Amino acid sequence: MSKPVDYIVQPGGKLTGRIRVPGDKSISHRSVMLGALAEGTTRVTGLLEGEDVLSTLGAFRSMGVRAEGPDHGKLVIHGVGLRGLKAPKQALDMGNSGTAMRLMAGILAGQAFDSELVGDASLSKRPMKRVSDPLGAMGAAVATAAVGRPPLRIAGGRKLHEIDYQMPVASAQVKSCLLFAGLYAEGETSVTEPAPTRDHTERMLRGFGYAVKTAGARVSLQGGGRLKACDIDVPADISSATFFLVGASIAPGSDIVLEHVGVNPTRIGVINILKLMGANLELLNPREAGGEPVADIRVRAANLRGIRIPEDQVPLAIDEFPALFVAAACAQGETVLTGAHELRVKESDRIAVMAQGLKHLGIAARETPDGIVIQGGRLQGGEIDSHGDHRIAMSFAMAALRAAGPITVRDCKNVDTSFPGFIELAARAGLLIRHN
Ligand code: S3P
Repeated sequence: MSKPVDYIVQPGGKLTGRIRVPGDKSISHRSVMLGALAEGTTRVTGLLEGEDVLSTLGAFRSMGVRAEGPDHGKLVIHGVGLRGLKAPKQALDMGNSGTAMRLMAGILAGQAFDSELVGDASLSKRPMKRVSDPLGAMGAAVATAAVGRPPLRIAGGRKLHEIDYQMPVASAQVKSCLLFAGLYAEGETSVTEPAPTRDHTERMLRGFGYAVKTAGARVSLQGGGRLKACDIDVPADISSATFFLVGASIAPGSDIVLEHVGVNPTRIGVINILKLMGANLELLNPREAGGEPVADIRVRAANLRGIRIPEDQVPLAIDEFPALFVAAACAQGETVLTGAHELRVKESDRIAVMAQGLKHLGIAARETPDGIVIQGGRLQGGEIDSHGDHRIAMSFAMAALRAAGPITVRDCKNVDTSFPGFIELAARAGLLIRHN
């Protein structure tokens, strides 16, 4: 076991300058997966070298895929084609990553060999029936452990058939899992989502030359095609940029530019919500990179106000709520979130853990079954337990910008899953942070 990492953040400071946060996690996972399954050599730049993506890469390496890197965000993957993976000798360890486990389940369901997916303590508590049930309906054999949790045991050699699936939850992971399984299925696989979710899988499949139809909320593809290798420029992750969007908004005197951030319309809930709260955000130099819209984002400090968060923004900001709750704690008035039950099944129960932490710092925060009510107030210093959740750790680190005393955040090791180098980058921008 490695030594626990705690953050010690002094109160005050402001965020200034120009920074580029690491690559988008969702796009990085998919780059590795599609690159491995394509025919030819895929060259990726801007890849997130976080532990979650390295778990995905490790899984493909143990199924016979050769890759050089990653090195400074560069990865070269020699694709083996949709039918070219080899049986792994051991269970595939997805670490902390729900995305890796759920998307891999779709790919592995179509293979000729048996496989097993395992994860760390947090991932081992997360719901997997949302993928094992529809994969079963396609003819796959995916067994979960008790109460639908990992490990997943996937029997190979099954014939997959088409499905027309109405997703009960708005989940890009479930949609992507089924589309990946659909590559191996006979006929047309369709997924209809109850609300828009991130569409990187659809965009990237098209980038790899695979036809994907989108008609309103329904996405579909025909099985039996081929993926052709391509080059991918991964934009900076808006989910990682979020800590700076919030930090700069709450810290007086802040003025920072975040470079080359992915601003796909299915990911910009955080921008929409912060703007409703009165944030001063400007999207500069909008452009396209590798089939994804990107922009530089300038953020200046602002007086935020509490709002009722529109429910249609929830799936578009699903990973950004821990940081948004810190913004709400610094806003004037009450912020109300509803329709966000999914937050209870992320890397931690983000409603419970954030409410507990905010209350500890002197903020009135009340949990509801599917959300939270936060009364803006004066943040005190104190000691917070992140419960091993990377986004909770980084959110409370940013809270120190407006706190009356130092904030210590316990158990921050998992920040490396999505944001390697967070401390160094945040310190460079002006956060008074160090670790134990
Ligand atoms: C992701 C989808 C989201 C998100 C996760 C990444 C993806 O999960 O929370 O961090 O890459 O598809 P859900 O699909 O479970 O909402």
